[in-house]
Amino acid sequence: MLIRTASDIVPSEITPQAVYLNRRQFMAASAGLLLPLSAIAALPAGKSPYSTSDTPNSRKDITSYNNFYEFGTGKDEPALYAGRLKTRPWTVTVDGEVGSPRSFDLDSLLKLKLQERIYRMRCVEGWSMVIPWIGFPLAELLKQVQPNSRAKFVAFETALRPGEMPGVARRVLDWPYREGLRMDEAMHPLTIMAVGLYGDVLPGQNGAPIRLVVPWKYGFKSIKSVTRIHLVEKQPPTSWNLAAPGEYGFYSNVNPEVDHPRWSQATERRIGEFFKRKTLPFNGYGEQVAGLYRGMDLRKNF
Ligand code: MTE
Repeated sequence: MLIRTASDIVPSEITPQAVYLNRRQFMAASAGLLLPLSAIAALPAGKSPYSTSDTPNSRKDITSYNNFYEFGTGKDEPALYAGRLKTRPWTVTVDGEVGSPRSFDLDSLLKLKLQERIYRMRCVEGWSMVIPWIGFPLAELLKQVQPNSRAKFVAFETALRPGEMPGVARRVLDWPYREGLRMDEAMHPLTIMAVGLYGDVLPGQNGAPIRLVVPWKYGFKSIKSVTRIHLVEKQPPTSWNLAAPGEYGFYSNVNPEVDHPRWSQATERRIGEFFKRKTLPFNGYGEQVAGLYRGMDLRKNF
C-alpha cells in the first residue's frame, strides 16, 4: 500500500481542496461540468448535519487510489481504465417487490434531492478517506417505486460490460459485482446514491455515473456503477461474501472489535497521514445507526 507523506504532495494536488471550499465559485467556473446547473443550484448552501467535520482528502487522493476490480486489482488501474466505461446513456432499473417497477435515466435521477455529504469512508483493507460526495438519499429513489410488504432486502448490481471492463476477463469475483442491504439500512438517511464528488460529476474510477455510499460499513458494500436495484424477500447473495464467506459477512459494519481473519481491524491509516488512528465502531456513525442492530450479535453477523 502506498502511503504518501506531506512532502510528497505537490501544490497542484492541494489546490482543488482550497478551490472546493469556495464550491459555488468553482462550479460556476467549471466548464466541462456534466451535472446540470439546475441540479447544482438545488444543492442546499449550508453544511449537511450528516457531514463530518474531518478535513476531506485531496481530490487527487480520492481519484488515484481506488478499488474497482472490473478495471483491475491494482489501486492505480481504475484511474487508468475506468474512463472506458460508457456512462451515457445510463439507466438504473428498480424492480422486484415493488408496486411500480421503473427504469430511471440519469437525468431523472439528478432531479432527486441532491445534497453534499462529507463522509468518512473505511476500507476493509485498513485505510480510510474523507470524501465530499454529492448524492441523494437512496430512500428518495425507493419511495418512487413503492416497496411492498415483502421487500425485506435490497440487491444492487454493477454493469457488466466485458468490452469496456478489462478486469472482468479474470474471474477474481463472480461478475457482475453484487451487493445488498437490509431494507431499513437502505432507507436510513445516511445511505446515499452518489453522482458526484468535490462539486463535479463522479469520475469513472469512483463509480460513474452512480454508486451506493454507506459510510458505516466497509467500503466494499458501496457498490459502483449501479444498473439494477432489486427489492427482494430473502437476503441476497453478495460478491465478496460469495468469494470468501469467512472473511466478508453480509452486514460488514465497521467494527474494531471483530478482526478480519488475516488482520486486525482495530486501527486504520487515513490516506495522506502518517500515524494510524483508532477505528471507531460503525466508522463513527454509531449514534445514528447502532439502533438498527439492537439485539443482534455483531460477532456472528459480521
Ligand atoms: N464496486 C464495484 N463494482 N467493484 C469494486 O471492485 N470495490 C469496493 C467498492 N465498490 C468495488 C466497488 C471497494 S473494496 C471499495 S474500498 C470502494 O468501492 C472504493 O471506493 P473508492 O475507490 O471510490 O474510494
